[in-house]
Amino acid sequence: MSGPSALWCAGHAMRETVPMRYLMLIAPASNRAYAQGADRLAAAELAICTHARTEVEVTELAGVGYLRFATEEPLSAAQLLIVARQSTFLALFELTAEDLLRPVPVPAATLFDDDLLTIPKYPGKTNEQFTRLLVNITLAAVQRPAADTPWTVLDPLAGRGTTAAVALTLGLNAAGVEGDQKSVEAMSAFWKTWLRRKRLKHSADMSPVRRDGKSLGRRFDATVQPPDAPERPRLELTVFTGDTRQSAKLFGKRRFEAIVTDAPYGVVHGASTDVRGVSGKRDRSPAGLLREAIPVWASQLKPGGALGISWNTHGLTREELAEMMAGAGLEALQDGPWLRFGHRVDSSIQRDVLVARRPIDQNEQ
Ligand SMILES: C[S@@+](CC[C@H](N)C(=O)[O-])C[C@H]1O[C@@H](n2cnc3c(N)ncnc32)[C@H](O)[C@@H]1O
Repeated sequence: MSGPSALWCAGHAMRETVPMRYLMLIAPASNRAYAQGADRLAAAELAICTHARTEVEVTELAGVGYLRFATEEPLSAAQLLIVARQSTFLALFELTAEDLLRPVPVPAATLFDDDLLTIPKYPGKTNEQFTRLLVNITLAAVQRPAADTPWTVLDPLAGRGTTAAVALTLGLNAAGVEGDQKSVEAMSAFWKTWLRRKRLKHSADMSPVRRDGKSLGRRFDATVQPPDAPERPRLELTVFTGDTRQSAKLFGKRRFEAIVTDAPYGVVHGASTDVRGVSGKRDRSPAGLLREAIPVWASQLKPGGALGISWNTHGLTREELAEMMAGAGLEALQDGPWLRFGHRVDSSIQRDVLVARRPIDQNEQ
């Protein structure tokens, strides 16, 4: 997959063009992911994915929410695919000169059936629609040349693999690290059943990881041939069990175009939280973990690659997180639509999103 930056250039200056007006219908289920404000997040996501080359406005027609935007020329197939892949996309219409809605067909957004994302249900799962948003905007921040092989998205706090599943459905390779071995085992069991049931050409195996005669945990590896696309390479997934701060050791020299993760929320369950392995008082807060993990993750990014994190702002401010990113040599994207993703999940979780890019050093590529 190449960077989408060139896709949205609207028209060519010298020509007289009639602007095209579009309305994207937002899926009604979106509010489940965000309590409220789904349309605001959707507008920010679309603005970022179109590289802000078009103003995106939230609007209502007969009580139904849409995103409204205009382009100088009809959307190309590549641009339609970007719209179809929006996390809240339901349908696209052209607003005609007579102010009527004309349906616009869009290409298939994903390579695999959506039940890869919707069947797994478990406590601590990141909403799949929100995960799609996080993946979309992080990929939009990547500045890398087009490649012959698919990009890889790493989720270093992988849980049972929602980010990995989103990445694969978009035609990308996926990788992960997760501290809870049971989660990786559950992911492996689900994927094996799902791949078999869908009759896809695949391999899927859980195996021990040993270095210098010592057991380091386990890994789940899978490959899958996208259906109806024999010309595409098999997509690959690797998830290690282990502490995320060991991610660079586990993956060795491998580097990633994008790292996308939903950080533990630091919400107390009994005596502990969903933050693993950070000692002392900081145990309950994800801040201690992120402070130690972000430099490791930054070292795993290719130049021009991007890191997208969602986190609970109760306990860690945007400024603190941006400082951690800067300390690891990353440039946080902190203007316009990038600042419009804050939303309430429940009484103890106020979630926000921060994306940062590893600068391209002229000496390295
Ligand atoms: C918010 S959850 C992510 C859920 C995931 N996106 C999903 O949908 O399954 C955060 C995850 O981080 C994991 N975690 C917390 N501390 C960790 C650590 N030090 N190393 C590795 N994983 C850790 C937790 O076990 C949990 O699965």
